[in-house]
Amino acid sequence: MSTPYQKEVLLRPAVEFYSGMVSATSAFFLIAMPGLLMIPWTIAYVAATFFTIIAIYDCYRGYVILRYRRAISRQGPFEIRSHKVPVYEDRLYIGTGFEWGQRHTQRYLDTFDDKYLPFIKKQEFHFARGIQRLFSKIPLLSLISYYLRQTWVLNPWPPVAPLSGDVSLNGVEHHQSKAFLPKSDRRQHTYMAGATGTGKTEAMELMVVQDIHRKSRDCVIVFDPKGSASLLKTMYAESILAGREEDFTVFHLGFPEISAMYNATGNFSRITEVSSRLANQLPDGGDSSAFKEFGWQFINLVVRVSDEMTIPVTLVSIRKYIGDVGPLYLNYSKMSLDRKYGSTWVEWFNDEIRSVVEAEEKSNNRAVIGYLSGRPVEEQAMHNLLRKGQFVLSDSQLFLDLEEVLKMSASHYSKLVASVRPLLDKLTAGQLELMMSPSEAEIESGRRLLEWEQVIRKKGIVYIGLDAMADFTVASAVGNAMLMDFVSTASRIYKEGVLGDTPGGIQSEEIAVWMYLDEVDALVGDEFIPMVNKIRGAGVGIVALSQAVQDFEVALNSVAKQKVIIGNFNNVIMFRVRNKETAALIADQSPTVRVLQLTDITTATDTDNMLDGSLFKSSNEDRSTNTETPMITEWMVMRLPIGQAFASVEGGRLMKLHYPFRVRDYRQLIPDSIVEMAGQMERRYRAGNDWYKQIA
Ligand SMILES: Nc1ncnc2c1ncn2[C@@H]1O[C@H](COP(=O)(O)OP(=O)(O)O)[C@@H](O)[C@H]1O
Ligand SMILES: [Mg+2]
Repeated sequence: MSTPYQKEVLLRPAVEFYSGMVSATSAFFLIAMPGLLMIPWTIAYVAATFFTIIAIYDCYRGYVILRYRRAISRQGPFEIRSHKVPVYEDRLYIGTGFEWGQRHTQRYLDTFDDKYLPFIKKQEFHFARGIQRLFSKIPLLSLISYYLRQTWVLNPWPPVAPLSGDVSLNGVEHHQSKAFLPKSDRRQHTYMAGATGTGKTEAMELMVVQDIHRKSRDCVIVFDPKGSASLLKTMYAESILAGREEDFTVFHLGFPEISAMYNATGNFSRITEVSSRLANQLPDGGDSSAFKEFGWQFINLVVRVSDEMTIPVTLVSIRKYIGDVGPLYLNYSKMSLDRKYGSTWVEWFNDEIRSVVEAEEKSNNRAVIGYLSGRPVEEQAMHNLLRKGQFVLSDSQLFLDLEEVLKMSASHYSKLVASVRPLLDKLTAGQLELMMSPSEAEIESGRRLLEWEQVIRKKGIVYIGLDAMADFTVASAVGNAMLMDFVSTASRIYKEGVLGDTPGGIQSEEIAVWMYLDEVDALVGDEFIPMVNKIRGAGVGIVALSQAVQDFEVALNSVAKQKVIIGNFNNVIMFRVRNKETAALIADQSPTVRVLQLTDITTATDTDNMLDGSLFKSSNEDRSTNTETPMITEWMVMRLPIGQAFASVEGGRLMKLHYPFRVRDYRQLIPDSIVEMAGQMERRYRAGNDWYKQIA
């Protein structure tokens, strides 16, 4: 309104109403009593029209001032019904807002100026809340309390939505519109930061809902380390609404009864991946590094030997051989001897067995080498046989490695595997074993199997609840393993081209895979950096959420790596954060702007010049000062209300966003309890879901 002036002042009395009223009165007199003013009625009518227009214009200007004062002080609820969430084919709706500019900084900084304070009625709202509480229990007066609780036009002090933070940040702009992230930009990855409870997950859900409903039936994968039931329900219900319940798969560590199974070791392009995947979960740094290294080598050995012997690698088998490598050594030796010498070795082996037994009977342990004592007879015999030189396996590196492990002293060995064991124990305990190492029978029985290959090709919707609250190590181990598996699958599919030979698989069209990583710090490991890089090429767009950038530093033990990771996210959406370094991600990108400060200066000086009759001199001036400030400062980011964010998207456009709260009503659709939900899901799955059998 006041842009032509040196400084717009919106926090002031709405004086436009005064002139508006004068014009309106004039118009009234001109029409009602043209004779009084002694002007011909035609001229009176023309003048009246003119005054009316002016009156309307002035009142509108006054209204804008009032509207601004109201918006800067309070904010009504911003809600959207679940089925009204806008869905666009080529872009993602990321909240409603405006591009932040110099004038917004100016307006916001003005709210801290004492002289404008009377026009910011935040105090009034607080006072109204006080009255509301005070009167709520008193008869009759409680009616006032009731009135103050209503959010309708007749209540000027409606309860402010319980969004802590400073609503003025939203009030500085009236003209707000939908903001979007184009598809191509989404592939440049998005990072959302915000302290707990600032609305990250809510905003993420809004995006997930859109992706589920898009006509192109995009593939949506959500990792939820917290395993929150609300997110799961949203995804399930929206899948049903979108007619895609067949595409929906749940994997949830906390609810084995509804969870699909996932073969943690079954499906790899490279064997070493298994070892990396597991070893990645081991503690790092200092002494632990050596153990991690050994853990990797050992798992790798078990996997390679199993592969050579064509026996399936499962978490259970890895755990078994880590407990005792003997049986693997024995079986591998037998197989290799068979291959190399046919059955000639068997007789010699039996002889060795006899001599070991004899020696033991005589309790003459002279012949037993230290590291063999206590080992089963067959293992001792095999070792003796191979030492004699008639049958040689030492040309096989796998055998040498196995032998080396076998020779380790028990105490040394147990120290080395100490770090691997607990993890494998956890991963193979109870229900988890069933979920992570599914048996053929279980798969046949119709239980769902989560396989990334199918998910990507069939454009699935996957929810992965990791239940990190219950056990962080397991959650992060499983999450990490799944993530790595996903990346290797996605890049392979991309390399092969999407024209797979899977019946019903995606044809040549572009893959759109959107992956959401809530609480991403629980999921990152060393492999995360190459992953984010690699995955961009595979048509996958990641949205990662965490509380602060330091989360990455803690997870990766390195500031440098944290910087690399953050650098990989081209879009940043920043909710209220508690630390400066995170806020700086946005603040550092904002240009420096000038804000204007008006100072009234009034002076009065006594004069000693009595001759001209003056007693004092006074002067009055308005002085304007320019100050330079970043357009968005760190502390502004730290004052955002819940559900609001600053964002740097599309290569550096700085936006202020407000996310609508999604009102869910899924009661007609899905049962409230997870257990009942499990029943419903099962019925749905069994009804029409045999696709993986046809393809397997
Ligand atoms: N856009 C929003 N508008 C109003 N309230 C919100 C909004 N987003 C979140 N909230 C409230 O904040 C709570 C926490 O939000 P959530 O998304 O779980 O936070 P975070 O994931 O950052 O910890 C929600 O339960 C909800 O009540
Ligand atoms: Mg959350």
